[in-house]
Amino acid sequence: QNSDTKVLLSMYKEVARLYSHILNKTANGEPALKYLDGRDITSELIDHFDIGYAPNNSQILLQLFKDKNISDEIMRKSGLFSENQDGELFDRFRDRVMFPIKDEAGNIIAFSGRILNKADSTAKYMNSPETPIFSKSKVLFNLDSAKKTIRDKQNVILFEGFMDVISAYKAGVSNGVASMGTSLTDQQLYTLGRLTNQINICYDGDDPGVEATYRALTQLTDNKFNYGVISIPDKQDPDEYIRSAGSDKFRQLTENSVQSPISFILDYYKRHYNLSNELEQMEFLKKALQEIAKLDSPVAIDMYVGRVADELNISKDSVNKELANLKRKTA
Ligand code: GTP
Ligand code: MN
Ligand code: MN
Ligand code: MN
Ligand code: MN
Repeated sequence: QNSDTKVLLSMYKEVARLYSHILNKTANGEPALKYLDGRDITSELIDHFDIGYAPNNSQILLQLFKDKNISDEIMRKSGLFSENQDGELFDRFRDRVMFPIKDEAGNIIAFSGRILNKADSTAKYMNSPETPIFSKSKVLFNLDSAKKTIRDKQNVILFEGFMDVISAYKAGVSNGVASMGTSLTDQQLYTLGRLTNQINICYDGDDPGVEATYRALTQLTDNKFNYGVISIPDKQDPDEYIRSAGSDKFRQLTENSVQSPISFILDYYKRHYNLSNELEQMEFLKKALQEIAKLDSPVAIDMYVGRVADELNISKDSVNKELANLKRKTA
């Protein structure tokens, strides 16, 4: 099993080198290079993230490893191949820009491949399947490169997409990581916890991103961590924001506009409920107080009770009484 790991790691390393060669040095890679250029992914970034291109050919890796006498069994285990009905292997990734996924030590253990053309009917991103060296619930994209900055700055920024991590890095924000399109797992939290206890969530500014932020804040209740939220304006994602507003604006956002969870949640409820409707006002009050009741700091409680009172145009005193009632009921 241990020797499988070694072989698989060396296969991934070699494949990444091949994909990178095809992207940078061959005519086949030109459309992909043009695509990356259109997204302002410079050659320095291509180099730093070891980005490559899997050509539109289902036999490239197959031939490569056959020539090297790699067994079918290992090829199946590698996750680099798909299988047709007759059990014949063929390259899993075709005509995709390839982002290597690395473990904490920088070994390439998987790929995520993006189609060039959005109109294409296949999935936008295709990830490696689970293999002996890759478990998507454990990995964080870019952790190997971000680790040092996370420790130095004592905070990590969690993005939704790989492109957001890459653009942030380009903008000088190098403590960013992303999960593989899922919410944070306990494993990933544990890994981050060895580096810092401050996690700043910077998901997309669109509705799904805002919902995912809300879910994360209400579900990630491990009190070993402090959470913060960096909201991207105009329903953009961080990558789009950096390209439209510029690196400086984005850096300022990540440094000066980190919102506390309770503040984000109150804003979220405010948008969710129609506060000119009495019933919805009561619903808003109830939901808001449930969150405020979780706070420890008396100063914070006072502050957010004040905000809720202002929002509803009622006295702080009555909001405090309501909060006391709620706490008594749930005690
Ligand atoms: P770009 O269009 O390249 O900028 O991607 P994005 O990162 O903005 O994608 P989006 O916000 O739609 O999704 C966020 C993340 O979800 C991506 O980085 C992927 O990890 C994941 N994701 C998106 N689409 C797919 C898909 O079709 N399949 C899989 N497996 N994951 C996806
Ligand atoms: Mn490199
Ligand atoms: Mn999104
Ligand atoms: Mn996005
Ligand atoms: Mn995007």
